[in-house]
Formats: sequence, structure tokens, C-alpha cells
Amino acid sequence: MKKFEKNLKYYLEKALKNKFALGAFNFCNLESFQAILNACKSTKSPAILAVSESALKYMEEDFLIPLFNAGKKQYPAIFLHLDHGKSFEICKKAVDMGFDSVMIDGSFLPFEENVKLTKKVVDYAHKKDVLVEGEIGQLKGIEDDISSDKNVYTSPNQAFEFATKTGVDMLAVAIGTSHGINKYTKNPILRLDILSQIEKLLPNFPIVLHGASTVNQDLVKTYNKFGGKIKKALGVDENLLIEAIKKHNVAKINTDTDIRLSFSSQIRKYLFENKEEIDPRKYIGEGRKEAQQIITEKIVKILNSNQKK
Ligand code: G3H
Ligand code: 13P
Ligand code: ZN
Repeated sequence: MKKFEKNLKYYLEKALKNKFALGAFNFCNLESFQAILNACKSTKSPAILAVSESALKYMEEDFLIPLFNAGKKQYPAIFLHLDHGKSFEICKKAVDMGFDSVMIDGSFLPFEENVKLTKKVVDYAHKKDVLVEGEIGQLKGIEDDISSDKNVYTSPNQAFEFATKTGVDMLAVAIGTSHGINKYTKNPILRLDILSQIEKLLPNFPIVLHGASTVNQDLVKTYNKFGGKIKKALGVDENLLIEAIKKHNVAKINTDTDIRLSFSSQIRKYLFENKEEIDPRKYIGEGRKEAQQIITEKIVKILNSNQKK
């Protein structure tokens, strides 16, 4: 008999049942990986470690897999995920490399083409016990006025049809979040009403929110104080994220910007204050420390995934 293993599916089901969300934290180097791993270890939290296509290229697969496996050996409740795979080929590659899950992001395609591409990835990945995340609806960039375009948000009926036709394990939806450091031109909003409608059609189904960084304003101030020039920075309201997790089946929350900002603000500060220091371990180490702190806070205050390993 196959030994019971706490795999990603186990934790997604546990998250839905216990009203917490798995953090999907992006990393692109040793130190961001360690910051996430150490935050998870210290809080006893399961988590998804996400690699974008460009991060995969940057780190190189020959280095990535041994790095991830070293972390997994120390702390098994972490799962390797491909973030925003844009083609069948890149998803296949990640599946073959041993990722736990892949995202096929066909949200830029017409509905039926998105269904077709996503289903193709699901058929391949499921044969190898790899989970698949699809996306329906589009997250707008910071230039777009999200409140004025009704097509931006996910349609609940399309979400149902998409999930049913493709067989995805997780579904990313657009309800007002967006990628990057400045997410809103006006007030931060999240269309929780859309989540309510989706959960009626898809009960107990893991919903994913991308673009969920909260953008700590103190870190923005630090960044600018030490030579940075970020003009506008506004993240998602953490109370709305908490509500989405507690009441609306959000089981995976993606964060990249907050990790980048914590790293970069402290590196700027350190280099500004230590003008003769050339040792990268000193300044990158400061970035790693801050990133670990920010991830730890997120796990405890927003995701509620601490003590769930
Ligand atoms: O959602 C996208 C992530 O922030 C990854 O961005 O392609 O610059 O690594 P990247
Ligand atoms: P943020 O830019 O809000 O951190 O979102 C990251 C993300 O969605 C990665 O897939
Ligand atoms: Zn994303």
C-alpha cells in the first residue's frame, strides 16, 4: 500500500477546511529561498515556493532542483510551483523536472482557447500526480483603471465552466488585485461578492489570488530615504485578504512584490550607511533578514497558516 504522504493536495484540502491559505512566495535566488524556508520553519507553516519562467531561467534548472530538494529535506511542508507558465512546453518541462504544481496562465487567450490549453496541461500533469492551476479573468496592470472595465473581473459562470471543463485543481481569479507595487489608482477594493458567487457554483474549490502584496509603507519610505525613487505604492488591504480567506475559499495567496521590497529596501539602507562595505554577504544578508520577517508576519497575521504543517 502506498505510504500516506502530506502532499500539496492534502494541504489545499486542509486549508479549505481550516480557513487558512497557503502562501505562494516567489523566489529567484538562494537568499530569497532561505528567507521563505526559514519563515515557514519558524512558524510551522506549509507553503508553496513559486518560480516564474524568468526566475527559472535566471537560477538555471540544474541549480534550482538541488536547492529546493535541500530545503525539502530540512522541512518537508514546502512545494515547488511554476508561476504563470504561458505555454504547454514550459509546464511540461516543470512537470518533468519534478515540480509539485504548475500554473498554466491562459488568461490572455479567448475563453475556449484558454480551456483547450489548460486541459492539455491538466491531462499531462495529472498523469504524473502534478497539480494544475488555471486562470480565468485578467489581472490588470497598474496603468489600467480596473473599476471601469467590467470585463476585467472573473465572471462566476465562466469560472464554473472553466473549472468543470479543464479539471484544474486550483483556480486563479481576478477580483481587483494586480501585480506589482502600485495596484490602485484610487481606493483598494476587492470584489468579495464575486468570490461569494463563485463559491456557490464551485463549493470547496481552492481559489487563488495573485497580486496580493500588501506593500508595507514603512518599507517604501526606507527605500526612498536611502536613494530610491518609488513614486506611487499601494497594496491590497490585509483585512480584505483575511476576509477572502476566512469566508470565500481562498486557499493560495501569491506574493512577490513584498519580498522584493523588503530585500531591496534593506540592501539600499545597508549600502547607504556602510559606504566602504563590499562584502555581498553583509548587504544581501540584511535583505534576507527583512524578507524573512515580512513573510513571517504575513503567515501569522494574514494567511493563518502557522502551526498547520
Ligand atoms: O507574477 C509574477 C511574478 O511577480 C514574477 O515576476 O517574471 O519578474 O519573475 P518575474
Ligand atoms: P504581487 O506583485 O502582488 O506580489 O503578486 C505576485 C504574484 O501574483 C505572483 O504570481
Ligand atoms: Zn501572479
